Amino acid sequence: MLSGVLVVSAPGKVILHGEHAVVHGKVALAVALNLRTFLRLEPHSNGKVTLNLPNICTKQTWDVTSLQLLDTSFLDQGDIPAPTAEQVEKLKEVAGVPQNRAVPEHLAVLAFLYLYLAICRKQRWPKEDLELINQWAFRGERVIHGNPSGVDNAISTWGGALRYQQGKISSLNSPPALQILLTNTKVPRSTKALVAGVRNRLIKFPEIVSPVLTSIDAISRECERVLGEMAAAPALEQYLILEELIDMNQYLLNALGVGHTSLDQLCQVAGAHGLHSKLTGAGGGGCGITLLRPDLERAEVEAAKQALTGCGFNCWETSIGAPGVSIHLATSLHDPISQALGGL
Ligand code: PMV
Repeated sequence: MLSGVLVVSAPGKVILHGEHAVVHGKVALAVALNLRTFLRLEPHSNGKVTLNLPNICTKQTWDVTSLQLLDTSFLDQGDIPAPTAEQVEKLKEVAGVPQNRAVPEHLAVLAFLYLYLAICRKQRWPKEDLELINQWAFRGERVIHGNPSGVDNAISTWGGALRYQQGKISSLNSPPALQILLTNTKVPRSTKALVAGVRNRLIKFPEIVSPVLTSIDAISRECERVLGEMAAAPALEQYLILEELIDMNQYLLNALGVGHTSLDQLCQVAGAHGLHSKLTGAGGGGCGITLLRPDLERAEVEAAKQALTGCGFNCWETSIGAPGVSIHLATSLHDPISQALGGL
């Protein structure tokens, strides 16, 4: 199995446009961020293996032999079925997850265990085969939220900036390194429930909701066109178009029922500093993105960050287009990261 400590990181990501609509076959634009999530896996000489997910303060140790004794139904079957209810129950037992109380940290451990049992037991850790990693990440997504579109695992695997529609992925050519604020409202939400809510609204009001999804699709396409233009020569007027697209999409997402008062507050507070924001991902709380135009005064950006932090939110300034999933040499990690990973 593993011969030494393994450290893997995946980029943070945001969906610029197209969340929810992508579940219904429309275009989404997603970008990777250099706000990375780390995983450290350490085999011990006593036959145990320790998983450390420092970003969510999770550490768990298992006996490798007892993992191997689990039934073989987890092994890679070639296709990509969702995990069965029995498999999920078995994983919960192994992970020590209490019944009916699967918080996000538990779900992350379940997704990890599912992939570990399927891949590591077959000694098929794919080193450079990003296609395979993407497929496995999709399986992990299925453990976490049922019926994902595939956009999240794709952007985390490939990195950069990409267009995603019905499993078809293409990278955007030299997208501008847009500066953004990523703000976490810290309001918990269930992606599964929110996606189901949009589906129900679509079934209930097809004549109303279908055009909303088509409009979001058009926003993603327009954003892609503008980002393409910006690759050649970014100009302020293109940033103003991006801001308008952000505002329109935020209103449309509210119409789909995936807004939240915390997200309204985020938009208002950033708006008071002349900044434009929208939710990113499933909505109902969670995170929002705010575009930072290059002409903004530093003091204005700092004031906006402070105001958002003052609301109790976490706020990071970053740029879009980070590298995808990466394996790290323990010696090349920055100090704060190796400390969080347990002093490599
Ligand atoms: O909330 P997140 O980051 O998991 O993003 C969900 C994005 C959706 O479009 C709402 C669902 C999906 O699977 O694409």
